[in-house]
Amino acid sequence: MSGPRESRLDGCCTVGGLATDGIDADRAWLHEAIRKVEADANRSADTHLHVFPLPPDWEIDLYLKDESVHPTGSLKHRLARSLFLYALCNGWVGSETTIIEASSGSTAVSEAYFARLLGLPFVAVMPRSTSPEKISLIEFQGGRCHLVDDPGTIYDESRRLAEETGGHYLDQFTYAERATDWRGNNNIAESIFAQLGEERFPVPTWVVVGAGTGGTSATIGRYIRYRRMDTRLCVVDPENSAFFPGWLNDDASATGAGSRIEGIGRPRVEPSFLPSVVDCMIAVPDAASIAAARWCSAVTGRTVGGSTGTALWGALHQIAAMREAGQSGSVVTLLCDGGERYTHTYYDDAWLAAQGIDIAPYLRTLEKFADTGAWHEPPA
Ligand SMILES: Cc1ncc(COP(=O)(O)O)c(C=O)c1O
Repeated sequence: MSGPRESRLDGCCTVGGLATDGIDADRAWLHEAIRKVEADANRSADTHLHVFPLPPDWEIDLYLKDESVHPTGSLKHRLARSLFLYALCNGWVGSETTIIEASSGSTAVSEAYFARLLGLPFVAVMPRSTSPEKISLIEFQGGRCHLVDDPGTIYDESRRLAEETGGHYLDQFTYAERATDWRGNNNIAESIFAQLGEERFPVPTWVVVGAGTGGTSATIGRYIRYRRMDTRLCVVDPENSAFFPGWLNDDASATGAGSRIEGIGRPRVEPSFLPSVVDCMIAVPDAASIAAARWCSAVTGRTVGGSTGTALWGALHQIAAMREAGQSGSVVTLLCDGGERYTHTYYDDAWLAAQGIDIAPYLRTLEKFADTGAWHEPPA
């Protein structure tokens, strides 16, 4: 759909104000494409809000919004649906368009699914370090993986491929915050707050999430304000990500070496990250993220990915602070994807040793917190 526009004044033209064949065919394809994406949503159920077990006498309830149950296994199913609808309704994608995306993996898995639904070719531009499990999931959905050595080059490489193929670069990092309808339309915030309706603390004290594009935190932060709630938004960030220093120093040009926790943390402050709606940020060591992911899997019986560990660590940190302040209330965080995507990384002791990651001290923090309510972080 890129390239110079064709004049519609001769050849395929408007006659007496009515569009002729070319336009009709394009529009018919578009209508059908939108119907297919909407029908996929219509067939899907809402995701669960699980109760995470905490001692009831703490008077604090913790919930995990389980985004792993989407058809493509992660929170990114929502984003992929929004990005496709946005591109379709903007007239950026037609029946012959190759879809290109820069991704650390999970978004591409979901986008490959929607591209296949629409019969469009899909190319994921990703760092070579992306887990083999995610690469197979993208290929299983009919997508092609284009791997690059330097994670910082995925954006330019995607743009270049889009130009070369006459395709469309979806660009999640730019469009995530605006492709989602933040006022409602069953976005993740509306779903969470509706599901809390019958709980003892229906307005959470904290919602704790990570940031990959920044889209989820932007949607939740805006929704909280729009609905005039006192809930505060905490964003957790892994080691070597630019979001934390960018937020702390109000510096959109901050950079980082790149995150080991797939799906969250970025080498640059992405355009979709909205620092003004974030009330608090917590920098979480990778060993803490992985310890919390494994501990969560043991406690809940659901294996979870590394970024869920990051989010859970942040949520427990906030709960410890609430306890110290004598506060009761609720906290919500996200179960972003399942642990089966990370059996060769976060759940593999040899991988941890090769990365020089020791999770033992962080596991002790978690176990002690569950036993005694005392939160003691290992020294940095
Ligand atoms: C725990 C968690 N929270 C939030 C996100 C949000 O991602 P984004 O900023 O792209 O919406 C992710 C993405 O993987 C995540 O794993």
